[in-house]
Amino acid sequence: MQKVYYFYNLCFHPAELWAKDLSGRAVDASNSDNYPPHNGWLGFHAISRKGKNTAVPYKLNLQPGAISRRGWVGQETNLTNLRINMKTRTVKVGRNDPCPCGSGLKYKKCCLSASMTPNRDIEALYSKKYGIRLKKERDIEAIRKAGSLVLETLDLVESKIRPGLVTEEINTLVHEFTIKNGATPAPLNYRDFPKSVCVSANEVICHGIPGNRVLSNGDIVNIDVTSILNGYYADANKTFFVGTPDADATKIVSIARECLKRAMSIIKPGNTLGDIGWTIQTYAEAQGCSVVREFVGHGVGFDFHEAPQIPHFGNRGAGITLIPGMVFTVEPMINFGNKDLRILDDNWTAVTKDGSLSAQFEQTVLVTEDGYESLTPYEL
Ligand code: MF3
Ligand code: CO
Ligand code: CO
Repeated sequence: MQKVYYFYNLCFHPAELWAKDLSGRAVDASNSDNYPPHNGWLGFHAISRKGKNTAVPYKLNLQPGAISRRGWVGQETNLTNLRINMKTRTVKVGRNDPCPCGSGLKYKKCCLSASMTPNRDIEALYSKKYGIRLKKERDIEAIRKAGSLVLETLDLVESKIRPGLVTEEINTLVHEFTIKNGATPAPLNYRDFPKSVCVSANEVICHGIPGNRVLSNGDIVNIDVTSILNGYYADANKTFFVGTPDADATKIVSIARECLKRAMSIIKPGNTLGDIGWTIQTYAEAQGCSVVREFVGHGVGFDFHEAPQIPHFGNRGAGITLIPGMVFTVEPMINFGNKDLRILDDNWTAVTKDGSLSAQFEQTVLVTEDGYESLTPYEL
């Protein structure tokens, strides 16, 4: 029977994997009987040099003579009740030699090539376990196009924002511009949402319905645009000042902006959703503000709201590990006062319970091999 262990971008010889349980007792990791999480998906957290948690899901057919590749080679790792150290050695393998990972394929057809079998396995795992649909190059290209239309739409709205503007006029602008560009406004009729864009002013956290509200000097207003172009969704929002903001308005908008900036900066394979939430929550709360819990970011691209959910609060190292091909939004809603909200009788508009200001910024982000790319890129 073939022993299967799961690691991220890492091949190794069983004899080079050694483990101790937390009492310090050595465990023979090359013997699956002594190695509890054998024969299944082994997801564990590695502690990188920076001391950050990075999780490690990868499939590897373990056979003698494995080689080391890039990855978290040699790093100390934590597994629920095990401490594992990995050592690696490099073995010379010719392109046409049998792959040392034990697949039975030629090395060049297996671990040498970028399209390693484990990539397909991890795709299946993320789909089955989390419902996450990873995006391929052609998908990414299409979402990027939808994303630039979203950004153009936000720019158009920004150019029209002034005291006296009626929120309904913003809806007309967004709707007509979207259609004119061969796209569809995703909010319209989405779960009975009646308009083509969300317009959320001051104490409105999100999902404000455009109507007869008139913007006045000193207001802040969030415009959230989602467009469907050639079947692909991109989702982004910004909070704008109407006229001249006061100190509180300036503060909440800059904190919300900084939350998104910090969250995006840590997006890379190996970091987790908990790292994203933690980054936002820690900063917002240190500034005396609060993070809305009821609404979260989300996978996006094939559909408006896909798995996974992206909470804007949480614990470092917790949650799903980011892997290349994931596309999701980060869209922290930050309240000046308390985090609690209520929903108005229109069943959509979310407002702060304490009436305090709320601001938000959102981008659609792709996890790349070594970091992230915003598919709705704008300066933060
Ligand atoms: N664009 C929002 C988001 O960021 C969702 C709006 S749903 C709607 O997820 F129906 F209100 F449009
Ligand atoms: Co969104
Ligand atoms: Co949005």
